[in-house]
Amino acid sequence: MGRHLVTSALPYINGVKHLGNLVGSMLPADVYARYLRLAGHEVLYICATDEHGTPAELAALEAGLDVAEYCRRQHQLQAEVYRRFDLSFDYFGRSSSPQNHELTQHFARRLAEQGFIEEREVKQVYSVADQRFLPDRYIVGTCPYCGYTAARGDQCENCTRLLDPTDLIQPRSAISGSTELEVRQSRHLYLLQSRLAGELRAWIDSKRDWPVLVTSIARKWLDEGLGDRGITRDLQWGVPVDRPGFEEKVYYVWFDAPIEYIGATKEWADADPAHREWRAWWYDAHDVRYTQFMAKDNIPFHTISFPSTILGSREPWKLVDYVKGFNWLNYYGGKFSTSRGVGVFMTDALELLPADYWRWYLIANAPESDDVSFTWELFAATVNKDLADTLGNFVNRTLTFTARRFGEQVPAGGTPGPLEQDLAAALAEAIGAYAEHLERMEFRKAANRLREVWALGNGYLERASPWTTIREDPQQAACTLRTAINLIRVFAVVSAPIVPATSRRLLGVVGQPDAATWLSADITAELAALGPGHPFTVPGVLFGKVSDEHIAAWTERFGGSEEALPSA
Ligand code: MF3
Ligand code: ZN
Repeated sequence: MGRHLVTSALPYINGVKHLGNLVGSMLPADVYARYLRLAGHEVLYICATDEHGTPAELAALEAGLDVAEYCRRQHQLQAEVYRRFDLSFDYFGRSSSPQNHELTQHFARRLAEQGFIEEREVKQVYSVADQRFLPDRYIVGTCPYCGYTAARGDQCENCTRLLDPTDLIQPRSAISGSTELEVRQSRHLYLLQSRLAGELRAWIDSKRDWPVLVTSIARKWLDEGLGDRGITRDLQWGVPVDRPGFEEKVYYVWFDAPIEYIGATKEWADADPAHREWRAWWYDAHDVRYTQFMAKDNIPFHTISFPSTILGSREPWKLVDYVKGFNWLNYYGGKFSTSRGVGVFMTDALELLPADYWRWYLIANAPESDDVSFTWELFAATVNKDLADTLGNFVNRTLTFTARRFGEQVPAGGTPGPLEQDLAAALAEAIGAYAEHLERMEFRKAANRLREVWALGNGYLERASPWTTIREDPQQAACTLRTAINLIRVFAVVSAPIVPATSRRLLGVVGQPDAATWLSADITAELAALGPGHPFTVPGVLFGKVSDEHIAAWTERFGGSEEALPSA
């Protein structure tokens, strides 16, 4: 069994994340990590808050807190909501940690020693009205490539090109809107990525199994000619630059943030002496398979910038083995927007319904091959059909009927026949395909197969019809219900990666511990695991239905449909 390192893009510290952030990185990474653990692999799943940069400074200012305190609080809030969403990080770190400071400075030093760092005198945009240098993303203007009028100075969200603020047409301050911008001189460190372009291309070319979404974005960037990248900024909050003359500067947030994948692993180790061997996950880690999850705007940073840092260090730090990229989840065809408060945020979501409703919907409709729109109608249809009618209904009718006729224990009597053989064969096929999709991180396909697995339960009950056989052949009915109760256990185990709370609940109902291992290949044996006399309890309704009234109320509350449609 291999060792798997899994990371999801680090959420920015400011603000609760929305469902688009969740489905584009943390949730699929969690499903994958959970599956790998069940399949018997050693897994380290790392995430952290991305805490540096101007957004954090400005948000702290607005909250009337010093930035360190602001970040401490926001980290707690985010950690709490991720816990409630059942995200199974082995460690949730902070990019402002001393460990990350140290590693970031280490990488900068190594890069300098290897000749990949150069000091350059650069012109920088200073906003007179705001009395500060404006970081790239706080200068907005028109994208010179696609004409998008709200492009940020670091990247155009519309065409994903990385930009330099001076590329923008009609630039203005995103803080105050002021166009009174001055250009001032400042000395900065540049990472000479251009010298690594050949190596990077060879590395990308070797990744034949990567999604086209990922390699095409990486190649586009290389094809455009890889520019050298400024990695320092005139800010106070960040990792200090350890070089004479740079006392007032910090490393650029995009330089230190990915290093925090390593930093958080060190935090994990420092928090528990049992994790002393943390370096074996990252350094000379040839036995580790490293998978990253992220939305498409993050792809250049993970396929070009961070690999440049690693390659340029000339130390054997682990490069990513597989990048799973996601398209956008839109809100009714428009963008989810943190700043405009459009869409559903993670805390809102949990106010409405438990995590598994969202986890299931988001994985079943993940934006893998295209952008996908969140709509309340599709959410309701998915939840009602899959969770309530298929899974929930099967569990409730099986247990209610058994309890009524045989008491709250697995009934004895009868022997499995052709129906059970067919069931086992169909299950083996569907579960095998499901596991393969999970292994390949094909989440929609995996969800389709899991839905099919659940549906086998109802199909089996219909065919075996215990409510009919109970009259003339109670032994037969007992065998059917015994099989059905075992099916609940089987469903609980295989559903654990996607709907973990439901899995725990179902296993609790049939008196089993939380799922720790995947099923054996012998499905017939799995269907007999809970023998006659084994107690169970009858749960209440597992999943409530989302009604038309809910849809109407939630559409109203979250600014639904019409106004969220793009103006085009
Ligand atoms: N905070 C960034 C975002 O939300 C992602 C940073 S990923 C990291 O887009 F690797 F750089 F940390
Ligand atoms: Zn553009």
